[in-house]
Amino acid sequence: MQVKRTLIMMLGVATAAFAHAQANWPTKPITLVVPFAAGGPTDVVARTLGASMTKSLGQTVVVENKLGAGGTVAANAVTKAAPDGYTFFIHHNGMATAPALYRKLAFDPLKDFEFVSQAVEVPMTLLARKDFPANNMQELVAYIKANQTKINLANAGLGAVSQLCGMMFQRAIGVQLTEVPFQGTAPAMNALLGGQVDVLCDQTTQTVPQIKAGTVKLYGVTTKKRVKVLPNAPTLSEQGLKDFEVVVWHGIYAPKGTPRPLIDRMNAAVRAALKDPDVVKRMDDLGAEIVDDRSNTPEALQAWLKSEIDKWGPVIRAGGKFAD
Ligand code: MLT
Repeated sequence: MQVKRTLIMMLGVATAAFAHAQANWPTKPITLVVPFAAGGPTDVVARTLGASMTKSLGQTVVVENKLGAGGTVAANAVTKAAPDGYTFFIHHNGMATAPALYRKLAFDPLKDFEFVSQAVEVPMTLLARKDFPANNMQELVAYIKANQTKINLANAGLGAVSQLCGMMFQRAIGVQLTEVPFQGTAPAMNALLGGQVDVLCDQTTQTVPQIKAGTVKLYGVTTKKRVKVLPNAPTLSEQGLKDFEVVVWHGIYAPKGTPRPLIDRMNAAVRAALKDPDVVKRMDDLGAEIVDDRSNTPEALQAWLKSEIDKWGPVIRAGGKFAD
C-alpha cells in the first residue's frame, strides 16, 4: 500500500514538473538544425526566421548546421534528439525525395517527426561560372552537348534540391555530366566563383546577390513564371525545356513526441516571424515567397510532405541514382 502511494506521489510530481516545463517554455535557447552548410540558402532562411523568433520567444534560436548525405545526416540526428521543445529542424524538398534516393534510410519522414509549419517557397536559378563560354540558354545547351565529358556540375549531394534540379536539367537535354557534391550550395557557390566547377542550379536566396553583382552567368529560372526579383531572367520552360519546374519549399519539424502545446507555440512563433516586416523584406529581396495562412499549420505541412513524397518518388526512381 505504502509503495503504491509513493508511486502515485512520484507520478504526480513528475506530471506537475512536466506541466510546469511546458507552461514556462522556452526557458533556454532553442536549436534549429539546418542540414546544409552555413551561408547557403537553407541557412539564410533559418537564420532570418531564427532572428525574428528570438525576439518573439524571448530565447535565442541557435542555428546548428549538421552536414552530410544531402540532409539525411541532420534529419536522422533530429529523430534521436529529446522531444522536449528545444530541438527543431528546417528542411526542404529533400525531406520528400530522401525515401526514393536512399535505399537504407534510417528514418521515415512521415512517421518520425512532428510537423510545425511550412515557411517559404524559393525559385532556383541555372548558373555557370562567370567565364563559361555560353552566353545564353541555346549556347549553353549546345556547348554542354559538345563538351559533356569536360563539364562539372556542382550540387549539395543526393537529396539536395541542387542535385534534383541538375538531374532534371541533364535529363531534359539528354546529357550526363560529372557531378561534384558539396555539403551545401554555399561551398558549391564558392567553387563556382573560383572556377573549380562549371555549372550550378541553386536557390535565389543565395544566388540573387551574385547574379546582381555579375559574378556568375545566369541562364534562367526554374519556376513556371518569371520571378519579380530577376525580371529579365527567362524561365527554363519558355526556353525550350518544356514543363521544367522546380520550386523549393521549406518546412519546420520537431522530433516525434514533442508535446502538441509546444508545437503549437512554435507554430505561432513561426507564423509571427513570417509576418515580421524584416523577414518579409529580406525574403522578398532574395526572391523567396512566404507561404499563405493555409499552408502554415502542422496539418498542412504533413499533407504537403505526403503529396511531395508521392510526386517525386517516381521521378527520382526513373533517374536511377541511389545511395545506401
Ligand atoms: C543549401 O542550403 O545548401 C541548399 O539548400 C542545398 C541544396 O541544394 O539542397
